[in-house]
Amino acid sequence: MNKRLSVNHILGIRQLQPDDIRLILDTAVQFKDVINRPIKKVPSLRDITVANLFFENSTRTRTSFELAEKRLSADTVNFSASTSSVKKGETLIDTVNNILAMKVDMVVMRHPNPGACMFLSRHINASIINAGDGAHEHPTQALLDAFSIREKLGDLEGKKVAIIGDILHSRVALSNIYLLRKMGAQVMVCGPTTLIPKYISSLGVKVEHDLRKALKWCDVANMLRIQLERQDIKYFPSLREYSMQFGLTMELLEQAGKDILIMHPGPINRGVEITSEVADSSQSIILNQVENGVAVRMACLYLLASRAEN
Ligand code: NCD
Repeated sequence: MNKRLSVNHILGIRQLQPDDIRLILDTAVQFKDVINRPIKKVPSLRDITVANLFFENSTRTRTSFELAEKRLSADTVNFSASTSSVKKGETLIDTVNNILAMKVDMVVMRHPNPGACMFLSRHINASIINAGDGAHEHPTQALLDAFSIREKLGDLEGKKVAIIGDILHSRVALSNIYLLRKMGAQVMVCGPTTLIPKYISSLGVKVEHDLRKALKWCDVANMLRIQLERQDIKYFPSLREYSMQFGLTMELLEQAGKDILIMHPGPINRGVEITSEVADSSQSIILNQVENGVAVRMACLYLLASRAEN
């Protein structure tokens, strides 16, 4: 297998080849070993400076990237839009070029606009990792989800993954669909008609509106939050009604009659898309996903940095 990524940036899963995905996941296995050792740090990124540019709120993803960078011995600078000159009318390119002028090598960026990372990659020389661009892609989340499935169930080929919830506004859904299809998994999306985009079946996924049927079908259920902050109109009558139809409960899991792996990218809205009982059950790997996120992001940073070196 090729030991180098075919890309200079990780903008989306769409741009990655199956070999890139395999390389990132295999490299992450080694980094997971590293972060479970008493001495968790390696010198791989010692001379590299990474800027974390967060134009949108984040807890998990931001902390995970920061930790990944620290474990690799990189120097980091953190920028958040709420405390910056963006509020004074500066453009994205000017903001980033000013940061790069301070000799920054890599950029991790979360931005509310779809395509913001792609746009930036055409104007700056540093490698960019997309940490979520609007409702478009969230590649490192899909990679850590894939890593977590592989760790529990083995190869992704042929596995049945149901992505349940607000598909329309979810960057996690789109990146997961691209990745799982590229790696030969079967994908179903499930949710209210209004929250499933019409084009979705052209990506090779099944569409289901009955949660019971989706659970009967799948090996893995990836539960998504309703992205209320991205919804300009009402897509369903009330959260209560949504959770009655699409909320995952212990009772539904028992009715499915098999051990389904439960995932969620976080933040969880307990009692809406998933009950506390399910989120905290032995079938749930939600916290494993968070742990794996650091190893997967270390792999992405390391592989992009070693590509830039050569
Ligand atoms: C997701 C995101 O920000 O897209 N969360 C995450 O990165 N862990 C999903 C969400 O916000 O619901």
